[in-house]
Amino acid sequence: MEAAYRIYGLRCLNRSNPRGIDENPRFSWKLAGKGQDIYQKQYRICVWEEERLIWDSGRVFSDATFGIPYHGPALKTGTDYSWQVTSCSQNQAQDVSEKAFFSTGIMEADFWRADWVESGLVKKPLTDTTDSGAIFAGMVTSHEHPEEILDAPVYMRREFCLQRPVKKAVLYATALGNYLLKLDGVQVSNLLAPEYTSYHKHLEYQTYDVTALFDAPGPHAIGVILADGWYSGKIGLMGIGQQYGRDNALLFQLELFYEDGGRGRVCSDEQMRWNTGGYIYADLFVGEYLDLAKEPKGFSEAGFDDSGWRPVKKKEYGYDMVCAQSVDPVWIVKEIKPQLIRTPKGEWVLDAGENICGYTRFSVKAPVGTEISLEHSEVLNRDGNFLQNIMGQNKNQRDRVKTAEASAVYEPKFTFHGFRYVKVEGLAEVCAEDFTICVLTSRMDSIGRFCCSDPRLNQLEENIFRSQQGNMLCVPTDCPQRERAGWTGDMAVYAPTAVLHMDVQAFLRRWLKDMRFEQRSDGQIPHVIPDIPSNQYVNGGKEKHISSAGWSDACILVPYALYQAYGDAAVLQENYCMMKRWMDYVEQCAGADLCAWGQLFHFGDWLIPSIMASTHNPMMTALQTKEEAALMYLAYTANCMGEIAAVLHKTGDAEHYLRLAQRARETFSKTYVTKEGQMRQPLQGLYVLALAGHMLTKEQERGAVHQLCRLIEEAGDCLDTGFLSVPFLLDTLCEHHAGDAAYRILFQDQRPGWLYALRWGATTIWENWAAILPDGTRTNSSYNHFAFGCVGDFLYRRIGGLWAEEPGYKKVRIRPDYRCGLKWAHTDYDSVYGSISIHWERHEQEVSLEVVLPPNVSGMVHVGAKQIEIGNGRYHFCFAPEITE
Ligand code: BGC
Repeated sequence: MEAAYRIYGLRCLNRSNPRGIDENPRFSWKLAGKGQDIYQKQYRICVWEEERLIWDSGRVFSDATFGIPYHGPALKTGTDYSWQVTSCSQNQAQDVSEKAFFSTGIMEADFWRADWVESGLVKKPLTDTTDSGAIFAGMVTSHEHPEEILDAPVYMRREFCLQRPVKKAVLYATALGNYLLKLDGVQVSNLLAPEYTSYHKHLEYQTYDVTALFDAPGPHAIGVILADGWYSGKIGLMGIGQQYGRDNALLFQLELFYEDGGRGRVCSDEQMRWNTGGYIYADLFVGEYLDLAKEPKGFSEAGFDDSGWRPVKKKEYGYDMVCAQSVDPVWIVKEIKPQLIRTPKGEWVLDAGENICGYTRFSVKAPVGTEISLEHSEVLNRDGNFLQNIMGQNKNQRDRVKTAEASAVYEPKFTFHGFRYVKVEGLAEVCAEDFTICVLTSRMDSIGRFCCSDPRLNQLEENIFRSQQGNMLCVPTDCPQRERAGWTGDMAVYAPTAVLHMDVQAFLRRWLKDMRFEQRSDGQIPHVIPDIPSNQYVNGGKEKHISSAGWSDACILVPYALYQAYGDAAVLQENYCMMKRWMDYVEQCAGADLCAWGQLFHFGDWLIPSIMASTHNPMMTALQTKEEAALMYLAYTANCMGEIAAVLHKTGDAEHYLRLAQRARETFSKTYVTKEGQMRQPLQGLYVLALAGHMLTKEQERGAVHQLCRLIEEAGDCLDTGFLSVPFLLDTLCEHHAGDAAYRILFQDQRPGWLYALRWGATTIWENWAAILPDGTRTNSSYNHFAFGCVGDFLYRRIGGLWAEEPGYKKVRIRPDYRCGLKWAHTDYDSVYGSISIHWERHEQEVSLEVVLPPNVSGMVHVGAKQIEIGNGRYHFCFAPEITE
């Protein structure tokens, strides 16, 4: 039976039982309740170190349930804590939560005694091309023999002997490069540690409780494999190596607490020895090449003969940039058993059934010395043969393994791929059961679900979710294959949808921290976070202006989307200074009449279908639309800034930014639009931006709506919007009494349109509406970009009916659009307060609507022409459809 009042979803720093934190904890929980109008009246938090109570908040009369800081005594390094909440409602219901946990990482200054160590491996000279023109023209292909240009990962080890039994052992480790750490032969490290951050300013270490591995005194060993990772591997659009440094380095410190009260320590230092081993190379993008015969078996166990190994070198990299991992680690969210296909050409291809980010694991029997190759791709060609759709430099997406025994087991450790299909070569016979596709992502809570009476929209929603999952590995990326870069604009347009699918707070907070680190002294925010130096070649060289409207605006739009969804103003506070500095740069460039902003380079309304069709050049979409798009985004972000400043009680700033937004609107309306509302270019996206940003006079607005509807009609009810305008397209139409056009576009199954991709069996959102042409030709686009999935927010809000009336959905407006053409829709959203659910159904004679709101939340429900205030609990309404708005 459901409890009358229940606490669930305990989180510390927005993570479930986080390990190794180094910040002051902030606690949150959610509430569920039976009955109506329940509000938390008071709460109490208790924190224990082992069995010892160290902090009791006492009874706090407040309805707050998130972001509550710990106020107890200073927390100790490497310690386990538990905590619990008691919550009482205004009607005397009470619940005591289960205990939740967190453990600390390093909580003290001057902790590190370990040395940074490097091998003496001399890396091959960098020969990657910097010719972006050649790359974009498809003239640069991946190297056929990557071993000629890539370096081997190094193996490092050291032994130590424990004299006494251990009570507790905690290991702290990080690297410049990616590391895999084993203790006595057991893998201890997280996947892809230490993940991807702005390494020079912010490098995260991982904390591992390894107590269980020390069951007896005696000899032990630590073995580490160190690969290039993001630090020195071939990353980004350009596929150029050594973006953050050339040589990989390792740092770890093992703290031992003996049962007799004594302490010990084992560190990375000059006692370590290194060698190369089974990995011929291991690159995140290119793939791995593992020769199992060369594996130094048992190198991470005591007693291994390392007499032929060489001593490591100590380096002085310092510890200032080192801090605790602040997001949940990358994990295997799902394992898929693939289908085996024999293509017309006779290739053996595994089909995962969905386009994912991850890798292929296998366990096969094959003659000794067999070289097995796995090449990953997102599509098959028109004839059903394997096609590598990812072009460019160092984008092989191919793993190779040479066997050393009659059976071989393989799981990649230093690479992952974006793919649905895997071409298997080297085996006389391929057996599907021998293979498992592992789906990787940064671990996060799933919190939203939308479904409705049209299976196509359900598939679309599933595809959007899958693209989000595939593009949230360490950092929010544009795509999981070609670039895997933290493109700011992609996240800016997708943020309102991202916050509905998953609790992205910790994940995006870390990314925003890197954004602060990457901000230039003049206030600019680079296009990609963490910044990738070789990105400069994309824009043709060393420009002073390295930011873009809509992209760099992510520094304002992403924190604001987080605040609106989760209600926690800390994210605004934390990033406010960055936002202001960015706006200062924008204002300074924009000049007195603000028009100079659009004269600089911007990506504009990137990838407008009609411009793409006629020019086949994405840069043309930028150049043709950047002026209008830049000014509109100036108004839009300035307006958000005004609202943010008001939330933070910065009245002067609020006034300033709202005025700036107003000035931008006036300039826009005077400069780019005729009195009758006609724009310089007949592009849907420009009209959408003008209307969504309220850039027009009333008279212009009427004309612009007319023009927009005409353009849509001429396009056969297909959209023609790019990156920056597509998030506003459907809402803008709905708001200007052109909802019919909005739904004709949404349900359009010709290209360009969301449902077109479904006709081709898409399982993710494509980068380009024409990724597969109507004649079945597969282009070299990415098939996994979440940006155009920004329509997800429209599904939840406009169709599902879930509108946040106050930040965090403390107050909700329930207003489904019953004229959307669907029979029913169902939306579940596990908000920061608890679970919200909306279900509506259209019958012949009536509409039925069921709403469930959690404790602490209230709502305003649109029932026909009426608006009804409700508290929380379960509500049911029936009303006649003809009086719905
Ligand atoms: C990326 C995009 C990104 C864009 C910049 C592309 O190569 O894949 O998603 O935002 O460049 O315009």
